[in-house]
Amino acid sequence: MKPDVTAFFDNATNTISFVVKDPAGTSCAIIDSVLDFDYSSGRTDTKSADEIIAHVQKNGLKVEWLLESHVHADHLSAAPYIQEKVGGKIGIGKNITVVQDTFGKVFNEGTEFQRDGSQFDELFTEGDSIMIGQMRCDVLHTPGHTPACLTYVIGDAAFVGDTLFMPDFGTARCDFPGGSSETLYNSIQKILALPDETRIFVGHDYKAPGRDEYAWETTVAEQKAANVHVGEGKDKDAFIKMRDERDATLDMPKLIIPSLQVNMRAGQMPEPDEEGDVFLKVPVNKL
Ligand SMILES: [Fe+2]
Repeated sequence: MKPDVTAFFDNATNTISFVVKDPAGTSCAIIDSVLDFDYSSGRTDTKSADEIIAHVQKNGLKVEWLLESHVHADHLSAAPYIQEKVGGKIGIGKNITVVQDTFGKVFNEGTEFQRDGSQFDELFTEGDSIMIGQMRCDVLHTPGHTPACLTYVIGDAAFVGDTLFMPDFGTARCDFPGGSSETLYNSIQKILALPDETRIFVGHDYKAPGRDEYAWETTVAEQKAANVHVGEGKDKDAFIKMRDERDATLDMPKLIIPSLQVNMRAGQMPEPDEEGDVFLKVPVNKL
């Protein structure tokens, strides 16, 4: 079964959102949508999400699921906005509770912030499967970048979020709280154990030296042969050393502070104050 996949690239955050459609019908899932956020002004915008909604409406699609590969640290999720417009259930990994616990502390949230994942419609764990129309979607737990990362395998397509990137770029960082390069390496082996011809769709692309175009689709065979971090000839210990050393040089993503506060609430802003105004926090010297 080969789902129809439409990609939407967000220039501001290098994120790729996907609409995955049942080739035999109109059901679809939307994976990793983006709510635009301008940090300087504190303003949100729905331009990126509206493009996806327009695609759904133009093609008469039925949105069954709004799937998150993980709690993103570089962009805000538009899942609740899209849900309000075109429906669908919001799902994420069960280990969201670990992420909520960690960042509930970082952002000094009160008891009104539930750490049980109840903000989401569905929490998935390894081995779960859901239906999107006639398409079966199998869930792999692929932690390492974060504790709650999932890979969604739908027919011949695997949506790997931030685990693997394009073969010439490598893999995702593992230095956020709860991340682990060793865990990521093991998770990647699960993905590489899928059939060689499996299409892999990655959650970000930053180009790579010598490549002019953004790209987001590759295969298991290509990753095994050529991934610069975990492909042919690269062993686990070398990967861990490389990943940890490189991560120590990386700046935090520009939108990590707003992204975490919103995404750990399933894409909702924190509760407004008595005046109806919404505020995000900046924890000082915490990240
Ligand atoms: Fe991420």
